[in-house]
Amino acid sequence: MLFKQQALLRQKLFVLGSLAIGSVLYLVARVGTLDRLQPICPIESRLPPPEPEQIPLRTLQFKRGLLHELRKGNATKEQIRLHNLVQQLPRAIIIGVRKGGTRALLEMLNLHPAVVKASQEIHFFDNDQNYARGIDWYREKMPFSFPHQITIEKSPAYFITEEVPERIFKMNSSIKLLIIVREPTTRAVSDYTQVLEGKERKNKTYHKFEKLAIDSNTCEVNTKYKAVRTSIYTKHLERWLKYFPVEQFHIVDGDRLIADPLPELQLVERFLNLPSRISQYNLYFNATRGFYCLRFNIVFNKCLAGSKGRIHPDVDPLVVTKLQRFFHPFNQKFYQITGRTFNWP
Ligand code: A3P
Repeated sequence: MLFKQQALLRQKLFVLGSLAIGSVLYLVARVGTLDRLQPICPIESRLPPPEPEQIPLRTLQFKRGLLHELRKGNATKEQIRLHNLVQQLPRAIIIGVRKGGTRALLEMLNLHPAVVKASQEIHFFDNDQNYARGIDWYREKMPFSFPHQITIEKSPAYFITEEVPERIFKMNSSIKLLIIVREPTTRAVSDYTQVLEGKERKNKTYHKFEKLAIDSNTCEVNTKYKAVRTSIYTKHLERWLKYFPVEQFHIVDGDRLIADPLPELQLVERFLNLPSRISQYNLYFNATRGFYCLRFNIVFNKCLAGSKGRIHPDVDPLVVTKLQRFFHPFNQKFYQITGRTFNWP
């Protein structure tokens, strides 16, 4: 009997003890939670005042552009107002040359904290329909940026389109103009390769490069072929020089941008009056791609899309030589006008 009573008492004590320990544990946890919920001083006053939000903004821009995020509802109008963000007309434009490395140049310049790129080619000045929409339409196509940043857009068709220099001049007569060039025959073959790929995608046949580049009647270079005409850089530049002084142009060596981009980018930084910020850290050679890729920070890096860096078809060496001879005098004039000499044949 006594034994039974003792066992009952032990059981009660065990239950009470468990309840007491449970209550203590609950209180400790609760107090901790309350402390987290109601800080002694507001969290903002414990932390140093936030820096202007450079990183998150650039992260958004890196992803797809803040405007896009705004449209998706990921960035609010309030955020944009708070950060004093604006859509600015470009202060510099990469006007060409198609297949010169315009995308690589834009993406690499976008590594600079003071540069914001317009991700898409806007085709405002070369497309009559877009141009008719007016300058506010153009501005609305620009990404959001801080007022101290400069916006850059690239539309390589600008370089060869008749009306564009006058239209850009009317927008901003002191705008800075970037032209990236490659050895003209290589550029023409690159141009051909892009069109060829488009045709193949649509299961269409296409002529060989040799047939397009050489006039079969005269056996001379076919200057009606667009890929050839685009590579006569001096002809196009001369049209631009009717509106802008040569000092407003900077010529980028597209072949060097492939092989060793940093020195070319540093020259552009200087031309744009920007402090030198792009460093070797931001550029790393990717052996699989065979090109330099971009490193924004420890988390973000990217290579250009596979459409950049296509394998070119083999071209008859006689045709290559003929084209190189054809371009030679135009190249000389180009060097003379721009003050930049290349080792082109
Ligand atoms: P290819 O495809 O002939 O190799 P654009 O952007 O004006 O269309 O120019 C495309 C060219 O950019 C490519 O021509 C490629 O050679 C060149 N390019 C320069 N730097 C590059 C990079 N880092 N990654 C990929 N392509 C690059």
